[in-house]
Amino acid sequence: MSNYNIAVLAGDGIGPEVMQEAKKVLSAVEQAFDLSFTLKEFDVGGIAIDNHGQALPPATLKGCEDAQAILFGSIGGPKWDSLPLEERPERAALLALRGHFDLFSNLRPAKIYPGLEALSPLRADIAASGFDVLVIRELTSGIYFGQPKGIEGEGEEQFAYDTMRYSKKEIRRIAISAFEAAQKRGKKVTSVDKANVLLCSRLWREVTEEVAKDYPEVTLEHIYIDNATMQLLRYPSDFDVMLCSNLFGDIISDECAMITGSMGLLPSASINSENFGLYEPAGGSAPDIAGKGIANPIAQILSASMLLRFSLNLTEAADAIDAAVVKTLADGILTGELLSAENRDQAKSTSEVGDYIANIIATANA
Ligand code: NAD
Ligand code: IPM
Ligand code: MN
Repeated sequence: MSNYNIAVLAGDGIGPEVMQEAKKVLSAVEQAFDLSFTLKEFDVGGIAIDNHGQALPPATLKGCEDAQAILFGSIGGPKWDSLPLEERPERAALLALRGHFDLFSNLRPAKIYPGLEALSPLRADIAASGFDVLVIRELTSGIYFGQPKGIEGEGEEQFAYDTMRYSKKEIRRIAISAFEAAQKRGKKVTSVDKANVLLCSRLWREVTEEVAKDYPEVTLEHIYIDNATMQLLRYPSDFDVMLCSNLFGDIISDECAMITGSMGLLPSASINSENFGLYEPAGGSAPDIAGKGIANPIAQILSASMLLRFSLNLTEAADAIDAAVVKTLADGILTGELLSAENRDQAKSTSEVGDYIANIIATANA
């Protein structure tokens, strides 16, 4: 029986709650597909600050280095918001991991499944036109990582600055990720930028055009970020792969999640050039609902599926998870945020949704 080593970093807020359900599903996959996953758990984020004095303790980093892939929950929350930026969980743990492993290619797939249009907040006729988008977000450069950044001066003269910076090499490798993906999907790349204002976006367009020449069967369109946010709501079916810089991809992916119905449905894969990856829900620690057992575990479960698919090459097992999730939604097994106010009394809990998905995998593949 093949064994795989996965580092599990549940983190803060709803992280541990939804991770519990992803572990349940992985355990169903082990049984059904005769596989063995060794899951080693490590503290990360706020809980790691509380327990070890830092958001990314050396033992956690070592655990990630020793694993074949990282399954990540979510980090951060009000308790740690007042720390200096460089010590906060988001920067000291999550951005540090992305940088350390050079996880430059972030894949965020968002889809309205046929028959599940009612989950979308879009007007019915617009939702019915279809939505199946892969956001490809550059994850280790741009304004998140550009130097210098700082805060200087005193009183009203005090000022802060961040640097948005992209090299041609960084743009080229993420553009290649987008074209490679588009070739296997709808054969269209929409590159999102602000080339009417930003030099980085001008360079982004130039390099993207160059890369496009190697993919004659893929159409390339450019769109400004502000227009993109509205066209997504107006003509969602116009989009296939959306190629975004770090900050624009962060914003666009939350919008794409919500078009499908909830932040709790959007998984993500952050991959480097060796296919090593960190897999996490695109959403955060959701302090507003943490501890109540009502968070949607699907983004975490689909992140585990992406881990199996991209880092472990376990396609059949990943397909089984994806199919079980679609069936669960189609069967109306929904957490509260997917229901209208008058139907919310029918909401299922985090663990009920996880049980249902795990059970489908176990019975369908028995
Ligand atoms: P958030 O994504 O945590 O929450 C935004 C909204 O989406 C909230 O209303 C929340 O209840 C809802 N939501 C998110 N996930 C959900 C789920 N699984 N089921 C149901 N509803 C869900 O964003 P925020 O409130 O801006 O950030 C909270 C904290 O999380 C901050 O500290 C932020 O920095 C951090 N954060 C972490 C990550 C990460 O670890 N990858 C990602 C985003 C934000
Ligand atoms: C995400 C999150 C992170 C980001 C934060 C927590 C640093 O919002 O993964 O989308 O901005 O990349
Ligand atoms: Mn985000």
